[in-house]
Amino acid sequence: MTAPGKTKTCKGIFLARVLANQPICRQHHKLVLEVENFPPADPGQFIQILCADPGHENLTGPTLLRRPFSIGGIRAKAKQCQIDIYLRVIGPGTRWLAQRKPADSVSILGPLGNPFPIAEDKPTAYLVGGGCGLPPLIWLAETLQRAGKHTIAFCGAQSADLLPLTLRTEVKVTGNKQTLAFDEFAQLDVPVIVSTDDGSLGAEGIISEVFTDYLDKNLKRADTVVVYTCGPNLMMQAVAEYCGKNSITCLVCLERMMACGMGTCQSCVVRIRDNSARDGWRYQLCCTDGPVFDSRDVIWDG
Ligand SMILES: Cc1cc2nc3c(=O)[nH]c(=O)nc-3n(C[C@H](O)[C@H](O)[C@H](O)COP(=O)(O)OP(=O)(O)OC[C@H]3O[C@@H](n4cnc5c(N)ncnc54)[C@H](O)[C@@H]3O)c2cc1C
Ligand code: FES
Repeated sequence: MTAPGKTKTCKGIFLARVLANQPICRQHHKLVLEVENFPPADPGQFIQILCADPGHENLTGPTLLRRPFSIGGIRAKAKQCQIDIYLRVIGPGTRWLAQRKPADSVSILGPLGNPFPIAEDKPTAYLVGGGCGLPPLIWLAETLQRAGKHTIAFCGAQSADLLPLTLRTEVKVTGNKQTLAFDEFAQLDVPVIVSTDDGSLGAEGIISEVFTDYLDKNLKRADTVVVYTCGPNLMMQAVAEYCGKNSITCLVCLERMMACGMGTCQSCVVRIRDNSARDGWRYQLCCTDGPVFDSRDVIWDG
């Protein structure tokens, strides 16, 4: 597996057309954008969306800065490319996006950041995602399945109505265990284990604990496994610390406030271990050095 790090991707600003925009839970919308000639991209990468009508930006308003969103899936056909974005409506930018209608135009910048590396020598992949950390993992599941990995997704949310996934009515059976089935993963044949903080769907509790309990019972060989995680910092930190103690490779997809997304503004720093640095760490940029990092390198400030 190549370590996460800078990949040279060509990027640009593109005018995208909204194909669909639908609520998928109480706070999340799934936005499908169509764009021509979008450069090749991989799971873990993101785009910056201008949350204002292209050409009519309000240069003093709250949506002057583009907002970063993980790419939740891409389907390319000839020059046309469809990009899935799963957005949680929390402020002016995401409110504006949630109101876009089919055929509206949206300006996007990307693809940005570095993707998740795929470990050729590790046959099992566990995805651990919480809330709006799920989108990059949905797309990653597709890549992992194509690479022939045995994949299981662990998905957490505060409550059933805040889980940005589409529940199927039937129950999927994996081996001798039953799991819930969600369209986003079921079409890839990836079983999903869910937890909610209030117990309204799946197990009651936080997904990092459900995941580590699962590994306590099921992990046979740490060197055959890679864990990919994205979501709230405390969740990722718990997953990373468990993996560290058990010698499991773990890749984290971090979020920081991002003004430019391209390494210019320095607003998105992450503390990364570096034994050659005087204090044993140095800053890296989440947007251009990440957002995917090896969990062993990250210093968790929480
Ligand atoms: C690489 C990356 C990928 C992301 N992918 C997704 C995604 O797939 N789906 C999704 O819903 N969101 C994602 N986000 C978060 C998303 O960018 C923010 O929710 C969005 O910018 C909020 O814009 P707003 O104008 O609606 O709210 P704002 O008014 O900008 O923010 C509302 C509140 O959220 C806080 N906030 C905003 N952005 C962040 C952030 N990055 N980290 C911590 N707190 C923040 C603000 O401080 C404020 O309190 C991602 C962020 C990053 C950095
Ligand atoms: S967002 Fe500007 S440097 Fe990272």
